[in-house]
Amino acid sequence: MIIDFLADYYRDVEKYPVLSQVEPGYLQKRLPKSTPHNPEPIETILQDVQEHIVAGLTHWQSPNFFAYFQCTSSMAGFLGEMLSTGFNVVGFSWIASPAATELETIVVDWLGEILELPKSFLFSGNGGGVLQGTTCEAVLCTIVAARDQMLSQIGRENLLKLVVYASDQTHSAIQKAAQIAGIHPKNFRAIKTSKSTSYALSPDSLRAQIRKVVEAGLVPLFLCATVGTTPTAAIDPLDKLCAVAKEYGMWVHVDAAYAGSACICPEFRHFIHGVEDANSFSLNAHKVVLNHFGLLLPLDNLRSFMRNHVKMANLFEGLVAKDKRFEIVVSRKFAMVCFRILPSALSDKVHKNDKLDIVSEEDANEANRKLLEFINMSGRVFMTHAVVEGVCVIRFAVGATL
Ligand SMILES: Cc1ncc(COP(=O)(O)O)c(C=O)c1O
Repeated sequence: MIIDFLADYYRDVEKYPVLSQVEPGYLQKRLPKSTPHNPEPIETILQDVQEHIVAGLTHWQSPNFFAYFQCTSSMAGFLGEMLSTGFNVVGFSWIASPAATELETIVVDWLGEILELPKSFLFSGNGGGVLQGTTCEAVLCTIVAARDQMLSQIGRENLLKLVVYASDQTHSAIQKAAQIAGIHPKNFRAIKTSKSTSYALSPDSLRAQIRKVVEAGLVPLFLCATVGTTPTAAIDPLDKLCAVAKEYGMWVHVDAAYAGSACICPEFRHFIHGVEDANSFSLNAHKVVLNHFGLLLPLDNLRSFMRNHVKMANLFEGLVAKDKRFEIVVSRKFAMVCFRILPSALSDKVHKNDKLDIVSEEDANEANRKLLEFINMSGRVFMTHAVVEGVCVIRFAVGATL
C-alpha cells in the first residue's frame, strides 16, 4: 500500500506547488496534542500523510525544482534504499556485517576509478574512503585527521595556533567543521575572491595570507579547495593551490560536493586536475549520481544523465542571454546558470540614484530578490539565490531526475 502511495506521489509530483505553501507552525495546529493511545488503520494514517505531510513538503523530486543543488533519486537508488532499510544492517565493523563493509569498499573504489583519482586514494592502492551521510561529516573527519597529524608533531598544547583556510565562496560546512574540531574561530580564514578570477581562490592570495600567519607565529594547517562552489560553481585551481599549501606542510581537502559527479564525464575531468597532490577528496553522490545510499547506476547512464542536465542548463542560459535585460553573471561550466536583472534594465522602473543618475546595485539586488520571490510564490518553479561581492544572483540549478 505504501509503495502504491509513493507511486501515486511520483505520478502527481509535478502538479504540487514545488515550494511548500504552508506557514511556519502549521503542523502543530493539525496534529494531536500528545501521543495517540490507540492504533489507527494504515488507510487513515496515509490520508493524514497526504493531507498534512505532503502539504508541508518542498518537492525536491519535482521536475520544477531548480533550487540549491538537486538531491537526486532513481529507481536503482530507491530499490537499494528499500533493501538496506529492510535488512536494517548495522555495519560499524567488518564482523557486524561483512557484506556491508566489503560492499562499501568496493563501490568507493569504483567511484574513485571512474573519477580517475590517483591510485593512492583507493583501497586497492592502500588508501580508501568511506560513505558518509553528508559533506559536513566528511570535512569534519578530514579536519580532525589533519589536526591530529599536525598536533602529534608540534604538541597538543598548540591547538589554538592552527589555522584553516578556504575561500569566501566555500560552503559554511568548512567553518563549522573547523569550529567543532576545536580550531579557534578567529583562525578560520575565508580568503576574498573576485569576479576577476570567476570567484576561484587565487594561489597568490593564499600565499600572502599564509605568510602573514606564519609571521604571527601561527601554524597553517588546512586548506579546503572547492570544485564547484555553492554560489556560482567556481573552480579553485587545485594544482597551483596544492603547490602553495605543500610548501607550508598543509593538508589540502578538495570539496567537490556538487561538481565532482560531473567529473565522471571525460570532458569535465580536467576540473579536478591536480587532485593527485591533495590529501583528501569528497563529493556528494546524492547530488547528481542518482544515489541515495551507495548503489550506483551503470556508468554510461550516469554520464548521459549528467550531459542532459548540462544541455538543459545550456539551453536556459541561451534563452536568458538573448534578453538584454538580464546578465549571465558568471560563465556556466556545469548544469547551473547564475543570472540577474541588470541595473540598466530597471532605469525606468525604480527611482534613480540622484547623484549618479543610474539605478544603484542595491536597487538591482532588491529587484532580483523580488523577482525570485514572485517566481517561487507561484509554486511553478523553485530557484534560490546567492550573493557574490554584494551582488544578488539567481541560481537556476538543473538536476531533476523526472
Ligand atoms: C560545495 C558544497 N560543499 C558542501 C556542501 C554541503 O553538503 P552536505 O549538505 O552534504 O553537507 C554543499 C551543499 O550544497 C556544497 O554545495
